[in-house]
Amino acid sequence: MEHKDVKIYFSSELLSWYRLIKRDLPWRMNRDPYRVWVSEIMLQQTRVDTVIPYYNTFMSKFPTVQALAEAPESEVLKCWEGLGYYSRARNLQAGAKEVVERYGGIVPDDKASVAGLKGVGPYTTGAIMSIAFNRPEPAVDGNVMRVLSRYFCLEEDIAKPATRVRIEKLAASLIPEGAAGDFNQALMELGALVCTPKSPSCLPCPVMEHCAARLDGRESELPIKTKAKPPRPELRAAAIVLGSGVNAGKVLVRQRPDTGLLAQMWELPHLLLPADKADWLDEKAPKEQGELAELIGRMLEEDTGLLIRPRRWFMDADHVFSHIHWKMRFYLADLGDESGAYAPAAEETVGIAAEAEAIYSVNAAAASEYKAGEMPSVYRWIDKEDMEKLPFPNLFLRILKEFWE
Ligand code: ADE
Repeated sequence: MEHKDVKIYFSSELLSWYRLIKRDLPWRMNRDPYRVWVSEIMLQQTRVDTVIPYYNTFMSKFPTVQALAEAPESEVLKCWEGLGYYSRARNLQAGAKEVVERYGGIVPDDKASVAGLKGVGPYTTGAIMSIAFNRPEPAVDGNVMRVLSRYFCLEEDIAKPATRVRIEKLAASLIPEGAAGDFNQALMELGALVCTPKSPSCLPCPVMEHCAARLDGRESELPIKTKAKPPRPELRAAAIVLGSGVNAGKVLVRQRPDTGLLAQMWELPHLLLPADKADWLDEKAPKEQGELAELIGRMLEEDTGLLIRPRRWFMDADHVFSHIHWKMRFYLADLGDESGAYAPAAEETVGIAAEAEAIYSVNAAAASEYKAGEMPSVYRWIDKEDMEKLPFPNLFLRILKEFWE
């Protein structure tokens, strides 16, 4: 078969297959460009099954571009809670505002305008243009690169930008006349259901017969992708500080800065440890446990003006971002009263070192100078209901739920 015919075969078989088996997904209900846009942003780095409930909630809360543009950012983040990569939510809302301001609330049927929206890269531009407007634009993500690398037995490294550009050209040349939306979704569907990363299921594949990798027995070797660097570990110590008096039953949380990782989300206050203290999170280093508890207490005191006393270890938890791996240790802490000397409670506090005791005694003497209520405004006392309203990264939500369970 000639190369041209191998391409025609691929496009027509794939399209017919998709039209027969396509899944009934909530963003396929109609071609509303706003609905397509939201789905494509949510589906980046996230599986379809995970996205569905989030998508439905998001759409009922923010059914139009206008509604999203006008919503308080914390509500948008709350709807995104648990999905991760929160800058997607912030950029999506910024994009919605741009559509309202520049295009009267209507997503424009124009590639350059769509590509210019905040958070919309080449893949999302292609997806919106093809799925919502049926324009013959390629939408190439990792799944599509995998499918095409296999079918055409391409050996270039898909981690390289030049390879993506080449595959975009190839994908564009495959789009059947008048069927861009369905064809691009067919590619995604094949990548998700059949031509999967590990052990692809070739037997039910609609294009197996002319798949070059399959014919060569190399479907499991392709695509070639050089490994990204492993995420850099960061050790962090956090405190769950229990309130007293009017704040009894509440826990101290703080809001992250306006920019950067997890911007504006809420978290349990914590401390980044020096890189050379890797062994501090080793359970076999009890002396350092005390130093660590003492450090987190001191940092919080300086930050909040409250007298904070770590009492005992609560739990360890990890979160892996794309480039950073947070390894966290959580301590339970409470507020010292003015007279009370530091008093480790029974065996639970075995880890807290003696030197911390001295520091806290000194602080206890000065405690009358501290006034609750003068905390910086990024800090806040919250109860369980507040937890359900404020946006927290998964990691902290898990800890808080564990705590309040
Ligand atoms: N992954 C990315 N976009 C998708 C879509 N529109 N349908 C299913 N999976 C997808």
